[in-house]
Amino acid sequence: MSAVKSTIPDNISEEYYQISTEILSSFPKYRPPLDLFRFRDDIAQLQPLFRKGERLSNEQIEKLQELCAGGDLFVARSDRAVYSKHIVKQLDLVLVDENLKTGEVAEICIMALGQKLSDFFEQPVKPVFDALYRDTMVFTEYLWQDKHRIKSFMRRLNTEHTLVNHSLNTLFVGLWLLMDTDPTMKRRLVDRAALGLMLHDLGMAKIPAFILSKTTPLKMEEKDKIPPHPLMGAKIMHKLGLAFDEMRQAQMEHHERLDGSGYPQKLSGERISKLGRIAAIADSFAAMISKRPYAAAMDAMTAAAHLARNTKKYDAKYTARLQAAYVQKLFDTPGKA
Ligand SMILES: [Fe+2]
Ligand SMILES: [Fe+2]
Repeated sequence: MSAVKSTIPDNISEEYYQISTEILSSFPKYRPPLDLFRFRDDIAQLQPLFRKGERLSNEQIEKLQELCAGGDLFVARSDRAVYSKHIVKQLDLVLVDENLKTGEVAEICIMALGQKLSDFFEQPVKPVFDALYRDTMVFTEYLWQDKHRIKSFMRRLNTEHTLVNHSLNTLFVGLWLLMDTDPTMKRRLVDRAALGLMLHDLGMAKIPAFILSKTTPLKMEEKDKIPPHPLMGAKIMHKLGLAFDEMRQAQMEHHERLDGSGYPQKLSGERISKLGRIAAIADSFAAMISKRPYAAAMDAMTAAAHLARNTKKYDAKYTARLQAAYVQKLFDTPGKA
């Protein structure tokens, strides 16, 4: 890891990002993918060093590595689309990098998890799951180090209607509810709940896209394909040998309702697990705030209020907390972190 310099003026670290040797080594060696700057101690300023795409000699590469090791190598934060792409491929770098802002890490994690999820939905086999698992563990480790970081993810719910966005929104809302209402929660449960919440709709990946995107009423035979999706998801995970309790609860119970009006098992009251109740709220909330083919998007505050009123179907302990968070504007500082 590169040294963190205390002499870097605040206005520089606000606009520039000091890159670590790990991140430098993830760039193409001879042609930097973005402009590089060096910090000059004597004048306490940054100077352009190499331009994006410039061909570097071996000597220049050595110089670069030396500057980086000394904590003197910077890139512009406005170039974050470029360095984020590199970090996404090696997500564990976010755990060792002290110069990334919380919001930047959240964006990078969302990108990485989104890609791995999309791969797994397309190809639900063990090696693809393993890649998703690895990045999920980086994400939960990052949260574990400071539980308030989940708020950065709550600020970045993506309301464009896709299965990946919906799954990630459900993950963030569900995990926030879990961690917020149970401060003594064990790490193992965070890991398992994260996987369960994220894959609650795995069975939906098997439903043809044209059915899910239809704006006209579904035909009977098309409608029949939706209710079995909890079971289909659970079956896939069972086949892969990954059917642990939290996975089953999130997948099988997210459409169950307290009054027994849900599906597939029509469970009611106490028979629905805690994670199942939370998954139901997170899933419904995630659906309500996105613009679906058959319904307009609600704003988060309205959606939370709507769920909180529906005490027959949703556990009021959690819906009240979600609503209070939006009333208190807990996730309302865009651009901050
Ligand atoms: Fe579902
Ligand atoms: Fe869902």
